[in-house]
Amino acid sequence: MAGPKEVKGLATSFNQMAKQVKHSQQMLRDFVADVSHELRSPLTSIKGFAQAIIDGTAKDKEAQLKAASIEDESKRMMRLVEELLEFSRLESGQITMVKESVDLKDLLQQCHEIFLMRAKEKNIQLRTDIEPLPPVVGDIDRLEQVFSNLLDNALKHTPSGGKVSIIARLPYPNFVEIAVTDTGPGIPGEQLQHVFERFFRADPSAGKAGAGLGLAIARQIVLAHGGDIMAKSTLGQGTEFLVRLPASPNITTH
Ligand SMILES: Nc1ncnc2c1ncn2[C@@H]1O[C@H](COP(=O)(O)OP(=O)(O)OP(=O)(O)O)[C@@H](O)[C@H]1O
Ligand SMILES: [Mg+2]
Repeated sequence: MAGPKEVKGLATSFNQMAKQVKHSQQMLRDFVADVSHELRSPLTSIKGFAQAIIDGTAKDKEAQLKAASIEDESKRMMRLVEELLEFSRLESGQITMVKESVDLKDLLQQCHEIFLMRAKEKNIQLRTDIEPLPPVVGDIDRLEQVFSNLLDNALKHTPSGGKVSIIARLPYPNFVEIAVTDTGPGIPGEQLQHVFERFFRADPSAGKAGAGLGLAIARQIVLAHGGDIMAKSTLGQGTEFLVRLPASPNITTH
């Protein structure tokens, strides 16, 4: 028969479980509240534009513009919902990463090519500097998503005449480090610690473009690769995002 010690152990485990359940419930409530909040604003716009067309207050040309706004807001909502689904699948471990040998040099050069046009259009200098690196094991499409989001952010926030760099190095034989740096306005210290949280936008008034999910998704992908991502920033000088990924020195790269 179980003695008092076992009963005590059981009670402790039970209390821990109850605490975990309470915590999960709270997280779920926060999540639902965040999502509802995010969806409310595009829905309010859609409703307003549609109402103006129904009422006949918007005529011909104006009605067309309202219809176009409805389409824009709907696209924004669809993107948000898609990113959100992806984020929650990643967070709950439902998405498994492909494990293949990835040549980061190829991948980063490809990212450079993709973003070069946008950089030129904004008169931003894009520089890529890659040390010889061992391959990493991972999911090339997901890793591309990480660097694309970092470059998208860097270009979004850097003013004309600025500089964005992709630097990859091997500080230790067992991990590679990729830095994406910019000469944008930087992120204030108290906000920097929140940039990887879902829906976080340092300046919510700065346009409707982003859902605030890119970095949260990037972080989940990097963690799923056994790596780490962090941000450093100096106000008025720029921001640096650092991605560290375990290297596979035993696999030979071409
Ligand atoms: N390089 C940067 N310079 C300045 N601020 C940045 C930079 N990168 C990210 N941020 C801040 O961090 C916030 C979160 O970035 P994140 O990529 O998660 O979302 P987003 O770019 O707003 O939207 P999404 O990536 O979902 O389209 C941004 O809204 C911005 O305020
Ligand atoms: Mg982003």
